[in-house]
Amino acid sequence: MLLRDLLPADLFAGRTVFVTGGGSGINLGIARAFAALGANVALCGRTQAKLDAARAELEALGAKVFAQTADVRDAPRLAEVIAQTAQLLGAIDVLVCGAAGNFPIPAEALSTNGFKSVVDIDLLGSFNATRAAFDQLARTRGNVIFVSAGMAYVPYPYQAHVGAAKAGIDMMMKNLALEWGRHGIRLNSIVPGPIEGTEGMKRLGGDSFERARSRAIPLGRYGTTEEIGQAAVFLASPLAAYVTGCVLVVDGGSNLVGSLPFREAIDAMHADALDATTRRD
Ligand code: COA
Repeated sequence: MLLRDLLPADLFAGRTVFVTGGGSGINLGIARAFAALGANVALCGRTQAKLDAARAELEALGAKVFAQTADVRDAPRLAEVIAQTAQLLGAIDVLVCGAAGNFPIPAEALSTNGFKSVVDIDLLGSFNATRAAFDQLARTRGNVIFVSAGMAYVPYPYQAHVGAAKAGIDMMMKNLALEWGRHGIRLNSIVPGPIEGTEGMKRLGGDSFERARSRAIPLGRYGTTEEIGQAAVFLASPLAAYVTGCVLVVDGGSNLVGSLPFREAIDAMHADALDATTRRD
């Protein structure tokens, strides 16, 4: 069943959706969901080739697309692209903060700079985008969707940096929802579970996760980028007009199980790299 079979195909017509890290994966899935419902889409990311491919795909869905390279850690450049978006597509109605970085590593092997790079991309990058889009969002009485992660709630081994960054995003989201309700701006987070075919899945367990799948996911299957897109559409739509400061978990129940199956998968994947002295099992 397609989104446009369930919702009016022009639900977001004349609206502008800006997606950070929108060139691939979950973020592109979110962009696709909005494009399929009539939105104009602006994308930023670090890799021009990915942005070009994403732009072609979204244009084929009928969207007007603006795609520019910008690293979310570079606040002035990000602000410039966000300002250009308003000129070319109209003020931003929906901001999706999806740009993220991740690599699994035992905490004792992680450098200060490695920890900082993930916090800078995920947490500070989300703030940079939200801060830069504030004037436009206040004008449109728009909304922000942050892409969080299960690591914000359940401690995962080798993910101390990511858990800290994602937990920070969700608390910042709640603070901003409290402050910006008076401007009519709604802010919410989505927590995707294991989503098939994504960079995150590749980095965090890859094929090894397949063996743990039925134990790790109560619904017994991976999610799809389309399903995360549907959740984003719901949060940005009038269906969620009274929803702000909310964390929407879209993970097939994975968080109910805890992180042990993930640990087994990632240990199997990185068996050579994980020093025997760092293991306790
Ligand atoms: N293991 C340990 N440390 C690592 C690492 C790894 N796999 N990858 C990077 N680092 C450390 C580096 O050593 C460096 O620290 P140092 O200066 O103390 O040596 C620090 O992280 C920054 O590395 P750098 O390569 O300069 O960062 P970057 O800004 O180019 O890349 C990352 C950012 C590290 C997050 C990179 O993995 C990335 O770009 N990821 C984007 C895609 C992604 O992760 N997607 C998954 C989403 S779930």
